Amino acid sequence: MLHCQGCHLPEAAGFEGRVPPIKDFSGYFLHSQEGRDFLIRVPGVSRSALSDSEIAELMNWLLQTYSEGQLPDRFEPFTEAEVASLRDDPEPDPAAARELILNSLADELPLLAAELTKNN
Ligand code: HEC
Repeated sequence: MLHCQGCHLPEAAGFEGRVPPIKDFSGYFLHSQEGRDFLIRVPGVSRSALSDSEIAELMNWLLQTYSEGQLPDRFEPFTEAEVASLRDDPEPDPAAARELILNSLADELPLLAAELTKNN
């Protein structure tokens, strides 16, 4: 609530046009390694005041609570070591990286492709 909700709003709903929803969406990113890394490399996460283990725990909880339906069949939880190494390599251009990752994932995920068309 303190670290993320100011932007992502209650229930991880996001803010149309400014902050993407985590709810019913973020799990799609776990379908590629780049996407998985992106979830930790975004500034809101990598620059957060939370510790690496808190971020791992929070992200695993968020994904399973709000975006379970979009996760791959085998969800591998984030580990503290994984978070630590990704935070050392923050994404310099999140908006561009996000678009590239989602477009490439949409080739394999029809539900995501439909979602992207709806929002454009
Ligand atoms: C200052 C506003 C802000 C804060 C605070 C913030 N975020 Fe974000 N978040 C964003 C924006 C904007 C994006 C879209 C990517 C980008 O431009 O950084 C994003 C992207 C994300 C994504 C990737 C999902 C996607 O569809 O792009 C996740 C996951 C995420 N944030 C989780 C968190 C968590 C967890 C926290 C708290 C530790 C947090 N954010 C704090 C604004 C914020």
